[in-house]
Amino acid sequence: MASDKGNGLYHLDNLTFVKHVNPETPWGFPSAPITIAALASGTQIAFLARHGTGHTIPPSSVPSRANIAALKSLGVRAILAFSAVGSLREDIPPGAFALPAQIIDRTKGVRPASFFEGTSVVAHAAFGDPFSRGLVKWLEGPVRRVLQGRQTELFMDKCIVCMEGPQFSTRAESVMYRQWGGDLINMSVLPEAKLAREAEISYALIATATDYDSWRPQEAAVTAADVLKTLQANADTARLVAATVLEELHLAISADPPQGQGEGQGQQGEKGKG
Ligand code: ADE
Repeated sequence: MASDKGNGLYHLDNLTFVKHVNPETPWGFPSAPITIAALASGTQIAFLARHGTGHTIPPSSVPSRANIAALKSLGVRAILAFSAVGSLREDIPPGAFALPAQIIDRTKGVRPASFFEGTSVVAHAAFGDPFSRGLVKWLEGPVRRVLQGRQTELFMDKCIVCMEGPQFSTRAESVMYRQWGGDLINMSVLPEAKLAREAEISYALIATATDYDSWRPQEAAVTAADVLKTLQANADTARLVAATVLEELHLAISADPPQGQGEGQGQQGEKGKG
């Protein structure tokens, strides 16, 4: 599980601390030592703060290859990534949650986005459905249940734009992303989602809208303070979502493993020489 600062996921009541690990991978060390914790069922989860302990790593410098490789080396089968996102739609207010289905890549090629870069392997993993459809479908039930109790909306099937940052978008870019079909925007879902796919780990994003970005002509453009304020206001809800989902996820995985790579579209095994 990866997470942004401020959403309060560092401590969940239903988890028992097991240990910290810091595995070195061929791509270096992960963003921070990984916390292993156990649920009452005995199932273990790994928690990784993608921006580092103390949120010191900017989005462009997150060592995503090391993060995903480290999680893989620990036997992680599904990643629930949490992220603050901007809203590009009037009907998705700050405070709402979303389980997006699509991504538009507006990172600028400075983030290593494949485990095969610099190797002699030419690999093409299918990415038409960038999130694990099985995992997202399963998540909708427990997440909706928690949010209903808190009068918080959940949006499905949305498209998230991932931009490079660290500056937020200009007003013109924000308007353009809306025209492209973007509904949400963040700086963190890539290359994480691509690398998880290459590593054959199921990946889903639990997004919390924190602001309206910069497309509303009469409103001030987004600032970091806006993002943090909403994120902190929603910390309790995010914690409850995480706790509920983690408690139930192992049941879902043991009963019917979420098919990691977007069922029925041949995403598995597309890697290879070509
Ligand atoms: N994360 C939270 N809000 C954002 C925004 N408006 N743009 C990019 N990333 C964000």
